[in-house]
Amino acid sequence: MPAKRIFVNEIQRDTIVNDVFMVVRKGVYLGKNNTRYMAVRLRDKTGSIEGRVWERADELSSGFERNDLVRVEGKGRVFQDAVQLNVTQIQKVEGEMILSDMTAFYPECESSIQSSKEQFFALVDQLKEPNLVSLFDALKKRPDILEKFFVLPAGVGIHHVSVGGLLEHSVSVAKMAKSVIPFTGANEDITVAGCLLHDIGKTEELTVKGGFAYSDRGQLLGHVTLGVMILDQLISEIKEFPTYLNDILQHIIISHHGEAEWGSPKRPMCAEALIVHYLDNLDAKIMGVKEHMRENMEDDTWSQYHRAYETRFYRLPER
Ligand SMILES: [Fe+2]
Ligand SMILES: [Fe+2]
Repeated sequence: MPAKRIFVNEIQRDTIVNDVFMVVRKGVYLGKNNTRYMAVRLRDKTGSIEGRVWERADELSSGFERNDLVRVEGKGRVFQDAVQLNVTQIQKVEGEMILSDMTAFYPECESSIQSSKEQFFALVDQLKEPNLVSLFDALKKRPDILEKFFVLPAGVGIHHVSVGGLLEHSVSVAKMAKSVIPFTGANEDITVAGCLLHDIGKTEELTVKGGFAYSDRGQLLGHVTLGVMILDQLISEIKEFPTYLNDILQHIIISHHGEAEWGSPKRPMCAEALIVHYLDNLDAKIMGVKEHMRENMEDDTWSQYHRAYETRFYRLPER
């Protein structure tokens, strides 16, 4: 894919745009004079911008979906004090992409990939249980897994939709776990290892195809099952890895969604698995809400309705 030349934060009145962006949302509406127009929100790593398609709205809208990468031709204009794009052509970008292409379209995770990586290795270095140390040594020898683990988002729609989001999420869950473990009597090393590995299956579940998307394998198997398979591969490299530890780590992965209807065949059955499940859920929701409020505010105080969380969100006044 050719390198991007124009970023959202460079678009001004009369800027001619012919470049690739990611679709945050789109909709076709009835305007004045009974003509149909399309509203799109487009994004790259520098921010997002509203676009309007005044002609062929239905035809152009049928060619792409939310989260697709699209080539956009248009021109900047100012409407109600905000820069918008008058779009004349918008088309889905087809073809294979590589992980590094994605850095132009998604913001980097809040705490930066570099700092999240350092925190990840610091957490790994604090592990004392020799078998878990060997497990992470085996992971360090798998650049094919780690390269994706360090760059992919945690998901494509709901939370941590940023470059490095999966890493940032895994590290946050582990750090939160460290602070609650003293209140629970849970085994620290097993819990932290479980936190760091709970979503490792996402390295197979997600892919880059016109933006981050679910792979066919990901859709068929899901990251819970894929995670167990990856863990199995890593453990098979280690001599005499204890069966009970293998079972507990696999249990943490398969139970981390908490309920069958959320994709877990077993509910969490020990303190270590409960901690991973609840903190995973908490971290995902908090980040999901933050991300929603960044781009979907109704006014200064209230966000738009969030369909997955089934509510609007409130921003506390600054005092
Ligand atoms: Fe998960
Ligand atoms: Fe997770």
